[in-house]
Amino acid sequence: MTTPVIGWERETPVPNHAFNDYLNARNGRLFYDDLDLAGLVIPGADNHGLAQPLPSPLEIVYLPMIRRRIEQLRRAFADAAAEVGYPGRFHYAYASKANTAEEVVRTVLLAGAHYEMSSVTDINIATLMRAAGYITPERMVIANGFKPAGTDYARYLLRFRAMHDALIPVVEDFAELPPLIEAGLPFDVGLRQKTYGQHASAAEMDAANSRFGFDTDGIFRAAEIIASAPNLRLKMHHAMIGSQLLDARGFVAGLTPAAQVYARLRQRHPDLSIFNFGGGMPVAMTLDFHFDYRDFARRLMLMLRDVCAAHDVPPPDIMGEMGRYTTAEHGAHLFKIVSVKENGSPLPWYLIDGSIMSAFPDTWALGEHFIVLPLNHLDKPFRRAQLGGMTCDSDDVYPPKPSRSALYLPAETNGLYIGFFGVGAYQEMLGGVRGSKHCSLPEAYELIVDRRDDGRYQFDVMPGQTTTDVMRNLGYVVSAVEPRLL
Ligand SMILES: Cc1ncc(COP(=O)(O)O)c(C=O)c1O
Repeated sequence: MTTPVIGWERETPVPNHAFNDYLNARNGRLFYDDLDLAGLVIPGADNHGLAQPLPSPLEIVYLPMIRRRIEQLRRAFADAAAEVGYPGRFHYAYASKANTAEEVVRTVLLAGAHYEMSSVTDINIATLMRAAGYITPERMVIANGFKPAGTDYARYLLRFRAMHDALIPVVEDFAELPPLIEAGLPFDVGLRQKTYGQHASAAEMDAANSRFGFDTDGIFRAAEIIASAPNLRLKMHHAMIGSQLLDARGFVAGLTPAAQVYARLRQRHPDLSIFNFGGGMPVAMTLDFHFDYRDFARRLMLMLRDVCAAHDVPPPDIMGEMGRYTTAEHGAHLFKIVSVKENGSPLPWYLIDGSIMSAFPDTWALGEHFIVLPLNHLDKPFRRAQLGGMTCDSDDVYPPKPSRSALYLPAETNGLYIGFFGVGAYQEMLGGVRGSKHCSLPEAYELIVDRRDDGRYQFDVMPGQTTTDVMRNLGYVVSAVEPRLL
């Protein structure tokens, strides 16, 4: 088991250095691409033309990264297809559950991605995005999630289908079929197979303990029901095996039993044309990440070609529903070190002006790692330290409790700021937006960053919560108290 590299791991200063393809130190300060992060929060610094520095903590939403990653993966699949002569297409879909913020969904759709959704609210978002022209008529909208008869999700899907032909419900239980059949509207549908986990055979997949999808017998029976319904057409086979799958060879091996089922289904149902591997596309959440996307695409295409040839059916179009991959790296969260506490603990506590566990729930819930780097003082010596949040919760720490990763930060803590990176997927959705958080800490300001065609940065500031916002949210009648006391 390797130990994730979460930052600079030495005591020596690092004034100039490329940590990865977007984080680099220049003259002792940390830049995200060309954005001097310290400049956003430190008074008197070059703050990119902002009227004044923004308050800390500060959440950064860096939209150009979303476009970059989509483009990078499309290129990897196009290169692999050219190399092996794969005849099928690659469809990039965005799994919106990773981050459903308006500016994220809009950016993804403007980059041409298809839209994968999983709830009734997502349908309303898709309706808005379609009205605004971001979901174009040919764009596939893939509906995963449970949608049995009688649910709002099932009802709203029918309404959305009336306005959008390219809606593809992915059916994963027999109870989801009647509303589609009874609606009478023509539907292209998908079928989700129970594939979650790393399995060597269809029998192993069938025996797995997962609530998602049909077993092999069930998927064939569901396909027959679809074939006999005059308004349904089976177009997609859905086979997700996991998330953040770091081994390209293992990823493809895990998809192989599902591909065999795809090919057998395709023999009986010739409209079937898309193999959807769902999520799992990994992305750098730490600094030791390496994954060759083109190699993955090449292996996947070769596997699908071999399996389909053995079953005498054409290789499918490929779809992935990239959640974490699309959004992890566009998100960063900046904090100030407000105090350093040396109380006999093995390492000094660097205390931040916010909460680690509220901002990144995966740290305490899953022991997940993210990148942490100082925004300034990179030209001064470092020392090993640990981070503590402002709540009074013993889990509000970083590195997470079970971790053996080493965190080094500048020994000079006067005016020190740090950033968490790779936090743009799932963390905000799990922690909640505009809610009331642990220990009633208000939510941070948010800075949405984009880049104009001339390369200059463009900013949108979303104010954070005040303490009275939090109190109102919790049901307090704030007007009952003299305003100057709050
Ligand atoms: C059906 C489905 N597709 C795609 C995803 C996205 O997965 P990832 O974040 O690994 O890309 C998920 C995540 O839970 C999912 O449930």
